[in-house]
Amino acid sequence: MANKDPLMITDKDEMRKWSRSMRAQGKTIGLVPTMGYLHEGHLSLIQESHKQTHLTVVSIYINPGQFSPTEDLSTYPSDLLGDIQKLKSVPGGVDVVFNPKNLYDYGNNDNGCGVGLDQEGGKVVSCVETGGMGHETWVRVERLEKDLCGKSRPVFFRGVATIVTKLFNIVEPDVAVFGKKDYQQWRIIKRMVRDLDFGIKVIGTELARDDDGLAKSSRNARLSPDDRQKQRMVKMIAKS
Ligand code: PAJ
Repeated sequence: MANKDPLMITDKDEMRKWSRSMRAQGKTIGLVPTMGYLHEGHLSLIQESHKQTHLTVVSIYINPGQFSPTEDLSTYPSDLLGDIQKLKSVPGGVDVVFNPKNLYDYGNNDNGCGVGLDQEGGKVVSCVETGGMGHETWVRVERLEKDLCGKSRPVFFRGVATIVTKLFNIVEPDVAVFGKKDYQQWRIIKRMVRDLDFGIKVIGTELARDDDGLAKSSRNARLSPDDRQKQRMVKMIAKS
């Protein structure tokens, strides 16, 4: 049987108010940050949150700050109504879906800065570098962000660390759950929480896979059967 509809919150002040009122009633809160287009991998994180806390907030926010100029932000899949149906089907449901429209201040310039992207030259910049008026504060986990995927995705981890910091400050959870599928991301969040003294317990959960062995991912929606086969081969070679 489907659970009740989650409360939909789009405004960050309303989100913080909800969390504070629940905590005042002695409830603990788990946060599962996502970019939506949910699948069983995401749903397994929610079940972990249920084990840890009284209430669960799922954030759905496609974070422009973690896309580089070569990755297409506009084609990242999204299906909010489908996501809500999936969330209702998880045992225990979820209490809140936090779906903010935009979490960055773009300022009053029109050069697209504020999200770490320079649309023209493809050079990765921030507002500081373009003299803009928008967002200019970034959280960086300096050594860990340079390893592994950080080499090919130079703005990715500062975008992740910054948006997760913002979500932590808005939702004020007791526990946050991440997938170890994105192992470097999980390590970076854990280090950031330790270094910056967030009073939040970070949980890492194991990887959920499709029947053919490919890790479940929102981006898989874009793969043809041929692409899926190639992805599996690449992963097998990388493992051997
Ligand atoms: P997203 O790719 O939507 O993933 C949200 C969370 O689900 C992450 O913690 C990720 O590791 C986990 N996850 C994804 N696929 C999984 C799978 N097959 N098995 C288990 N867990 C899985 O990761 C992000 O979004 C973003 O970077 C975010 C942390 C939300 C910051 O914007």
